[in-house]
Amino acid sequence: MSELKVSNDTSAFEVHAVLDERGKLTPESVGRALSMMDAHGLVVLTNLLSDEEADLGLSLMRQTIEDPDRERSSFASETDNRYLRRDFCSLPANPAVTGFAAQLCQRLERVLSEYCGRSRPLLEVATFTSYLGSSHQYVHRDPSGVISLFAAVEDVSDQQGGTVFVPGTHMYGGAGNNLGGQANELMELFRTQCNCRIFLHNLKKLWRMQGDGQAPLAPGEFLDRVFSTKWDQHQPNLLRFVSGKNSQFSLRTLGPRTLWKLYRHRVALRDLFQLVQIAPRKGTVILYRSDLLHAGPDNRSPHPRRFFGMSIARDIIETKYWHDGYSPHPTLTADPLTFGDLLDFTVAPEPARVLNVRTA
Ligand SMILES: [Fe+2]
Repeated sequence: MSELKVSNDTSAFEVHAVLDERGKLTPESVGRALSMMDAHGLVVLTNLLSDEEADLGLSLMRQTIEDPDRERSSFASETDNRYLRRDFCSLPANPAVTGFAAQLCQRLERVLSEYCGRSRPLLEVATFTSYLGSSHQYVHRDPSGVISLFAAVEDVSDQQGGTVFVPGTHMYGGAGNNLGGQANELMELFRTQCNCRIFLHNLKKLWRMQGDGQAPLAPGEFLDRVFSTKWDQHQPNLLRFVSGKNSQFSLRTLGPRTLWKLYRHRVALRDLFQLVQIAPRKGTVILYRSDLLHAGPDNRSPHPRRFFGMSIARDIIETKYWHDGYSPHPTLTADPLTFGDLLDFTVAPEPARVLNVRTA
């Protein structure tokens, strides 16, 4: 099985964000962004945040990352979280964090309103940090019916990893009828093919890390990532792969029929789908439909990769389903916010917001 092929050319998915006098995306930028979302399931809005705004977001994230009592997210790779390969935590719903989230929503109102009504809940506001030695997530879909946003508060290099998407694999009405009615099957085959390669990539990398001075394995880490019985959907766990207990990728997904189809459709899979890694510049915001195939790659550099993230529901959502995929901070659970609340939130002028951050 060959290596994972990933393109770093994101130009086809980018819209340069132009703001009007009220700080909102201009109708022209909105139109282009919505076309991208329809065609590809994502849009990369460059220069949406100024350097000062991105710095403010980073300072808010640092307050949480440096807090020993931070609220760790309960999804993605918990083993990576345990060994500090990743640090995914929710941000508290305090005025400074809510103000930052509100500013993003207000700036993107004309885009987000196409998907989310005012009464729809803010599912989480979070910070996602990935360190050297993390695993490459399997290609997956998040719980459907959600719009998610990643904001780059500092430059992210290709080596740091960004986020990997498979443009055009979002699940809208009738999408399955495409490609002669084979769209769903071909997308799933492509996901399986990618995940085979990610499984081998992660295993090889862990093997190499055993004698590695740069990202040495912690005591017990190799066993926990390869042979643990604990739940974790994004490790190259052989035990859970063989026993079929990993819903993202296991031997169950690789029956003889699937292997035959992977062979039979190998040319179509190569030509129809493409993995694209988006390693954004500071101030860039990525919007994507949660049902788009994507993965958080491993960080292959010694510099931590940090993103600000938030998700808003597009429909009513069952609490259990919500908490399976998103980790709201207890302060957000206690005092929920909707998309409308964020649109109505009075965002303080810059000096007061900085003051807020410093005194929070
Ligand atoms: Fe995800």
